[in-house]
Amino acid sequence: MNEKELETELINKAFEAQKFSYSPYSNFCVGAALLAKNGNIYTGCNIENASFSPTNCAERTAFFKAVSEGVKDFTAIAIVGNQRGRQREKNDYCVPCGVCRQVMAEFCDVNEFKIILANSTDDYKVFSLGEILPLTFTPKELS
Ligand code: THU
Repeated sequence: MNEKELETELINKAFEAQKFSYSPYSNFCVGAALLAKNGNIYTGCNIENASFSPTNCAERTAFFKAVSEGVKDFTAIAIVGNQRGRQREKNDYCVPCGVCRQVMAEFCDVNEFKIILANSTDDYKVFSLGEILPLTFTPKELS
């Protein structure tokens, strides 16, 4: 599979996961598809709570599913998000929150890990983790 085909697959998987978004409070539906170096893809959606603070973002759901199965090496993540039933403008993407960026920094190389922000398989943009989280606090700081 070439780069473009892989990006397309991850974006499609993120849209599939978005369908499971549990977001009755914000009505903002997010889906993510995380590619591990072993080839596995872990999907996630946002999961809200009446008590608000237990809410988990789609990206962290995907990461925590992978890590909880012993997988900690990752290549890329595709993220899609929009208000329920609404389409985003072209080139205006759902970006990962700061907490999710920090979770990515725990496991992923800032230069190598790719973040695919997508509205469709034709409208997406790819960033490195370092581009969206400069001056990164990583596990190295504690060694
Ligand atoms: N959300 C995500 O799932 N990922 C992000 O990167 C941004 C925010 C969720 C959390 C909450 O359920 C809703 O979107 C509104 O903030």
